[in-house]
Amino acid sequence: MSIEFGSGKPRAGNKQDIAEQPARAGDAAALDPTRAAEDEAEAGLRPRTMEEYIGQEEAKGNLAVFIEGAKRRGEPLDHVLLHGPPGLGKTTLAAIIAAELGVNLRKTSGPAIEKPKDLAALLTNLEENDILFIDEIHRLSRAIEEILYPAMEDRQLDIIIGQGPSAASICLELRNFTLVGATTRAGQLSAPLRDRFGIDLKLELYTPQELQDIVARSAGILGVPADSKGALEIATRSRGTPRIANRLLRRVRDFAQVKGDGVITKQAADEALTRLGIDKIGLDTVDRRLLTGIIQIYGGGPVGLETLAATVNEEAVTIEDMYEPYLLRKGFLSRTLRGRCATRLAYEHLGLPYDGEGEQETLTM
Ligand code: ADE
Repeated sequence: MSIEFGSGKPRAGNKQDIAEQPARAGDAAALDPTRAAEDEAEAGLRPRTMEEYIGQEEAKGNLAVFIEGAKRRGEPLDHVLLHGPPGLGKTTLAAIIAAELGVNLRKTSGPAIEKPKDLAALLTNLEENDILFIDEIHRLSRAIEEILYPAMEDRQLDIIIGQGPSAASICLELRNFTLVGATTRAGQLSAPLRDRFGIDLKLELYTPQELQDIVARSAGILGVPADSKGALEIATRSRGTPRIANRLLRRVRDFAQVKGDGVITKQAADEALTRLGIDKIGLDTVDRRLLTGIIQIYGGGPVGLETLAATVNEEAVTIEDMYEPYLLRKGFLSRTLRGRCATRLAYEHLGLPYDGEGEQETLTM
């Protein structure tokens, strides 16, 4: 069976109608000040079709089948849960799903939906088969989750109007819609909510080759010359994450234009990234502080996450979401029942003598 992307026929006039709620305190963008600015810089670099989207072959291939199936049957796509570390393209994928289906995308986030009426307004304003994208869906309150269940399952919106003795419960019939939820922490989703997603896709860190293609594509859009080794140098130092690759590309471009001849070569990228404190394999100062902290203060571990967070002066969630996935992938860190441990590879990378036996019982999660 051949699945073709990009053939979705947009509904006249409304495909570009992407409604977004402003970031509020507690949103990913508000929590991470670089995120909001970065989202804007990223916007022009985002792929708009599945064909343009590089990597995530398994998730993409499966999604292609599900989208085609829904289109052939003339039904809404089943609800989709996208999970994985930040910066891998969950929001981008949601926009592509909407584009492929030719429907509107409405974007919001878990912390932005504070009251039942916020959710009710979002749901009742959807058009037939539209996509409602909820970023950080694990941060929805229980009360909001309870309203979502019947909405997802039976298109029923049960809300209470008014207060006290005059309060009345009403049930509204909603149009067909697809909820696309994104989370960095699928484990924090309540079981009933998770069960209601018919499609569950895990996004993985990208390979250096995939990131090299992404950097080359982005450089083309930005109009900055980059040779293949220059693109690969940025790619291997981007922690498996397109958002980081595109950020580093913009910084390397600055150095290349101001200090060099404007071309991103391996040497130009190396000089710029070294000046930014990013080492040969992409570890930054926080990564190194984390590993040296475990090794030099806690004898290689195990050390509890909260203790480690206090030691390096970062939030525990930041360590878990932003730093650990790449350190685990690289084999520099292990998570054990009693805490985090640095591995022999971490010692070697940092040039520190390895003398310990290390913690053996790793925790599989
Ligand atoms: N820019 C950011 N993520 C991308 C991806 N997966 N493919 C192409 N360009 C991208």
